Amino acid sequence: MLHHSSLSVIAATIAILAPLINVHAATVSSTVAQTFLGVGGSGAWWPHDLFNFPDNVRQNLSSLLFSESGLGLSSYRYNLGGGGVDVSNPVRAPQTPYVSPGVYNFSADPQGVYFLQQASNLGVPGITMFINSAPAPLTSNKASCAGQFVNGSGAAYATYMVDVAQHWREAGINISYISPMNEPDNSFGPIPCGQEGMLVEPNQRAEVVSSLWNELNSRGLSSAIGILADETSSTGVAPTEYPVWLPEVVDMVAHLVHHAYDFPSDANYLAYVNAAHAASNGKTTWMSEICCSLGTPAGTGRGYSQGFDPTINNALMFAGLVFQSFVIGGEAHYDFWTLVSNAIGCEPLSSSTCATTPNSNGWTDGMIYYDPDYATNGNHELYLVKHFWTYKHFGNFVKPGTQRNPVTGSDATEYTLVVSNSTTYSVIVMNPNTSTSTLSLTFPETVCGTTGFRTSASEDFATVAAATGSGSTWSLSLSATSLTTYIFDRKAC
Ligand SMILES: *[C@@H]1O[C@H](CO)[C@@H](O)[C@H](O)[C@H]1NC(C)=O
Ligand SMILES: *[C@@H]1O[C@H](CO)[C@@H](O)[C@H](O)[C@H]1NC(C)=O
Ligand SMILES: *[C@@H]1O[C@H](CO)[C@@H](O)[C@H](O)[C@H]1NC(C)=O
Ligand SMILES: *[C@@H]1O[C@H](CO)[C@@H](O)[C@H](O)[C@H]1NC(C)=O
Ligand SMILES: *[C@@H]1O[C@H](CO)[C@@H](O)[C@H](O)[C@H]1NC(C)=O
Ligand SMILES: *[C@@H]1O[C@H](CO)[C@@H](O)[C@H](O)[C@H]1NC(C)=O
Repeated sequence: MLHHSSLSVIAATIAILAPLINVHAATVSSTVAQTFLGVGGSGAWWPHDLFNFPDNVRQNLSSLLFSESGLGLSSYRYNLGGGGVDVSNPVRAPQTPYVSPGVYNFSADPQGVYFLQQASNLGVPGITMFINSAPAPLTSNKASCAGQFVNGSGAAYATYMVDVAQHWREAGINISYISPMNEPDNSFGPIPCGQEGMLVEPNQRAEVVSSLWNELNSRGLSSAIGILADETSSTGVAPTEYPVWLPEVVDMVAHLVHHAYDFPSDANYLAYVNAAHAASNGKTTWMSEICCSLGTPAGTGRGYSQGFDPTINNALMFAGLVFQSFVIGGEAHYDFWTLVSNAIGCEPLSSSTCATTPNSNGWTDGMIYYDPDYATNGNHELYLVKHFWTYKHFGNFVKPGTQRNPVTGSDATEYTLVVSNSTTYSVIVMNPNTSTSTLSLTFPETVCGTTGFRTSASEDFATVAAATGSGSTWSLSLSATSLTTYIFDRKAC
């Protein structure tokens, strides 16, 4: 039994420690902001290799990407190949079903089709077909890179795209978006090229979009398949080009999609979104491709660069990019780039720490890595980096149809994302700092904290204790350098 004076000492100690515990307070708005459309990534170019892996590994990979027990992605970007003519890296040279006008070989690209089918089988609701280059016979240099879209070829290109999409839809794969020009600002030349690409000048983009829309419309598919454009690489460049092509076709575009390889500041990100809204009468914008940055959890040092950093530090830097899109930009959809990568930069069979230690030879462009030498050494292991576990928070809880409840108050930061549906609030919150802190969150109604999941240096989406509290005010414990999701039922405990 504690002596009375001991209790006083404990009380005094708590009073002294309290300011050090670092409590931040914020309020959840009852008025919702955007409705989410999806969280996903691209099927380029890993299907070429992973198709060769044993079937149990391919199944495991599909489940890691597309099931709730894995990332739970709600968006998958299938790369319709251009045939890889004059692309030197075979992994980045997907076959095309195009043979000649109206003639197709739908057995081509079995690798890409396999994982497209897996995404569909596992119920991914949003499937996009995206294209880096038209089939070689249609481009200016009859290659799959280093050339340009040819004026007047829009109708032929559109017939091809819609024939392919319709073929897979009839096979039960619900392709619901087509992106006809991925990074049209780059031809990816010179030959021999490292990947497919086709320059589409801003003054050519309206033809690409209107030809595709006319073809979809003539087949009664214009509401079933939306057009995504124009996937320009940088948020700084895209708005300077919108005036050239967008006014003519704005009503034919479903969503304005962009990449973010300029790694904009928060102010510049918001400026991009505002410019996109102004140029399009308020179309939703999507971030549809990003990878390859080093940097700290709090976001300093971002920028396109080589270097493999599989640690929690880079995974939180990357999570910060997702928060930037959703919270600062108010965007509805986020796609990472290749999801699966062989750019690990070390030899996993000769070093047990290869997959978990930063190196300067690799690239941070995957959530799951594989051995680039698998074909000769038979290593079919899948290596999950911290990015897998942090992205799982978004993939599992930012579901199509959920909405964002903004967080306000002087302590509110962009790293608190509150997502709601009719029964639940999911609070995804990041602590980029090296000290523990507590978030005191007030909801617009009585809620009940039920559970939590945390990713940190030592935890991978580990189940943690629910937030504590009662009524509408709850304390969320944020351990150092972590991403946590706290779940709340929208009712009393
Ligand atoms: C179709 O493509 C597959 C895969 O590359 C190939 O094996 C087959 O020979 C092609 N069929 C025709 C008729 O070209
Ligand atoms: C196909 O996708 C569209 C758009 O995402 C959706 O509205 C439709 O219900 C889906 N159809 C099927 C059969 O899943
Ligand atoms: C292609 O068409 C666009 C739009 O009419 C035009 O501005 C551009 O000059 C043309 N380009 C070439 C290479 O003819
Ligand atoms: C799937 O791959 C992960 C990552 O390598 C591994 O931890 C897990 O055991 C595998 N699951 C199955 C069923 O093979
Ligand atoms: C609401 O979200 C929670 C957490 O993701 C999920 O378990 C639940 O099924 C969702 N409810 C509805 C009605 O969609
Ligand atoms: C992290 O530190 C920054 C700068 O001191 C502070 O503004 C922020 O509120 C802290 N975040 C958390 C979650 O503790």
